[in-house]
Amino acid sequence: MRIQTLYSVLNLIVLVNFLLIFRADQSLSSNTNTKSDFLDCLIRNSDDPDSISRVIYTPNNSSYTSVLQFSINNLRFNSPATPKPRFILTPDDESQIQTLIYCAKKHGLEIRTRSGGHDFEGLSYVSQLPFVILDLINLKSVTVDAQTATAWVQAGATLGELYYEIAQKRRNLGFPGGIWYALGLGGHVSGGGYGSMRRKYGLAADNVIDARLINVHGKILDRKSMGEDLFWAIRGGGGSSFGIILSWKIKLVPVPDVVTVFSVDRTLEQNLTKIIHKWQYVAPTIDKDLDVRVLMFSIVNPSTGNRTIRATFESLFLGGIDRLLVLMHTEFPELGLTREDCTEMSWIESVVIGSSFTNGEPLEILLNRTAMPKNSFKGKSDFATNPISENGFEGIWEFYNDKIEAGMSLLVLTPYGGKMDEIPESAIPFPHRLGSLYMIEYLVVWDGNETSPHISWIRSLYGYMTAYVSRSPRRAYLNYNDLDLGIGKTYAEASDSWGSSYFKNNFNRLVKVKTMVDPGNFFKHEQSIPTRF
Ligand SMILES: Cc1cc2nc3c(=O)[nH]c(=O)nc-3n(C[C@H](O)[C@H](O)[C@H](O)COP(=O)(O)OP(=O)(O)OC[C@H]3O[C@@H](n4cnc5c(N)ncnc54)[C@H](O)[C@@H]3O)c2cc1C
Ligand SMILES: *[C@@H]1O[C@H](CO)[C@@H](O)[C@H](O)[C@H]1NC(C)=O
Ligand SMILES: *[C@@H]1O[C@H](CO)[C@@H](O)[C@H](O)[C@H]1NC(C)=O
Ligand SMILES: *[C@@H]1O[C@H](CO)[C@@H](O)[C@H](O)[C@H]1NC(C)=O
Ligand SMILES: *[C@@H]1O[C@H](CO)[C@@H](O)[C@H](O)[C@H]1NC(C)=O
Ligand SMILES: *[C@@H]1O[C@H](CO)[C@@H](O)[C@H](O)[C@H]1NC(C)=O
Ligand SMILES: *[C@@H]1O[C@H](CO)[C@@H](O)[C@H](O)[C@H]1NC(C)=O
Repeated sequence: MRIQTLYSVLNLIVLVNFLLIFRADQSLSSNTNTKSDFLDCLIRNSDDPDSISRVIYTPNNSSYTSVLQFSINNLRFNSPATPKPRFILTPDDESQIQTLIYCAKKHGLEIRTRSGGHDFEGLSYVSQLPFVILDLINLKSVTVDAQTATAWVQAGATLGELYYEIAQKRRNLGFPGGIWYALGLGGHVSGGGYGSMRRKYGLAADNVIDARLINVHGKILDRKSMGEDLFWAIRGGGGSSFGIILSWKIKLVPVPDVVTVFSVDRTLEQNLTKIIHKWQYVAPTIDKDLDVRVLMFSIVNPSTGNRTIRATFESLFLGGIDRLLVLMHTEFPELGLTREDCTEMSWIESVVIGSSFTNGEPLEILLNRTAMPKNSFKGKSDFATNPISENGFEGIWEFYNDKIEAGMSLLVLTPYGGKMDEIPESAIPFPHRLGSLYMIEYLVVWDGNETSPHISWIRSLYGYMTAYVSRSPRRAYLNYNDLDLGIGKTYAEASDSWGSSYFKNNFNRLVKVKTMVDPGNFFKHEQSIPTRF
């Protein structure tokens, strides 16, 4: 008995030693030779070595920096101190991604997948661990089938490219995706994706009918072969926890020949507080054809020389001016909308305006990914479940007396209701439905690298708002991801912080799917869905 025990203990020691040596060996070899080994691996495991070597960038390649920076949309993550990828792969063929997954696993590199590069926290192109960027910029085809009102669109395409292509095919079709034209389909749709038609048609992710994805084993799956659980998870749960999304099949929606847009400014001197207070009751309940969102800035009033708040009431109406004016005069006379404030146009022209281009700009501007300037920013989000009192708003205005920070900050109120309320909370992972009156986006934007005062400012405003917004959990929008909500990696940590904020009760199902499809947690980042056994 004793001898046997001793024997097995010895055995165990030998085994443990062997494992330690073996592991040390492995990590040693991957540390010293990762670079050339990894490149060798890609070349050796590729069907077409010449093609893959044309789309690999190391810091030695002269275009490495321009490829890296092209889709960095938050300059906060473009400083010399920002960790840089060991490699960037810009595949022009799906099989190259399969090779990448195989070699990244083999050589212990993390993959960060980038489509449009608009991630609020730079997660698609920054990691603290050795990593490679999979940049889908070359996989951006859009195939519209006007007959069936559907389209297949590759993840690397932008919304602008999609909208443009739809409008080329048929004037009466559109898609209820985001407002900002340069967003990538990969990140945007997998995180939900709202735009000006959400009150009529829901989110981008609500209108996905099929998808193609590469899983951790390098297998290409479609809706049928991935199964309904995984197909559910990638429509609002964030693609980056589950695999690489290659393309979406989306349902296009009817848009009228003529839509109407307006953009009306009101300042505190023009009774803004009262108007906004009323807006909360009207915007989420009014006709589904109408979206009126509010963008609030702090400005110096040119006529008084004093600082004030200016709110822009920005609208898309799926119909003509006459019907819009009747609606507004009946339900929201406080805004004082006039015929002169309104412009009729086609839906695709309204898309151009929505991205802050001027009316009459050629539609091709939607294809130019670099047409708008970039800056550094920090964003946060909230959901209002009850109207905020006039007093509550007056407290917000006080934050804008802090001139330096306030001049560069923006608050956007986006009303829900309509179709958003009709879709059950568990239909897709995005849970902010019935009971969410509107979403609040906080944004602070700056040019230089003096990050901390701006971030402190937005955090203190967010602190003030605690009393006025959703609680238990305080909710947040995944596509406005915010590492202030926590970077908990275990199930319990995540569930108590960002997990329930982004997903409410859908978090548990996401964890189940994650555990099923990626038990080794290969696809991960600071707020990726954890596994649980
Ligand atoms: C200026 C600006 C305007 C915005 N306007 C809106 C708006 O109107 N409506 C709205 O809903 N949101 C809006 N957003 C938020 C936007 O939807 C998200 O930032 C979205 O994630 C961007 O997608 P992307 O592909 O451009 O970003 P990326 O940074 O490329 O990706 C974002 C996340 O998705 C992952 N990902 C990207 N592609 C894939 C893929 N193919 N497979 C798996 N994972 C992938 C990334 O790894 C990362 O985690 C805006 C953001 C900005 C900066
Ligand atoms: C970048 O450098 C690597 C290694 O020298 C080479 O294999 C690859 O072809 C280069 N990539 C491009 C796009 O030139
Ligand atoms: C990059 O260049 C350096 C110096 O020329 C060289 O030593 C190194 O092997 C190169 N790395 C790769 C991955 O090509
Ligand atoms: C603001 O409201 C007051 C009282 O409701 C009204 O008398 C005044 O005309 C309004 N001012 C503007 C600029 O609309
Ligand atoms: C501007 O602000 C100052 C200080 O708060 C105030 O005294 C003054 O009346 C304001 N001017 C106008 C035109 O409102
Ligand atoms: C895209 O827009 C930028 C900024 O206005 C401009 O410099 C560039 O030439 C445009 N690119 C194309 C292809 O039109
Ligand atoms: C900030 O920018 C200034 C001027 O461009 C530069 O000198 C400084 O080193 C930068 N600081 C950081 C922390 O990057």
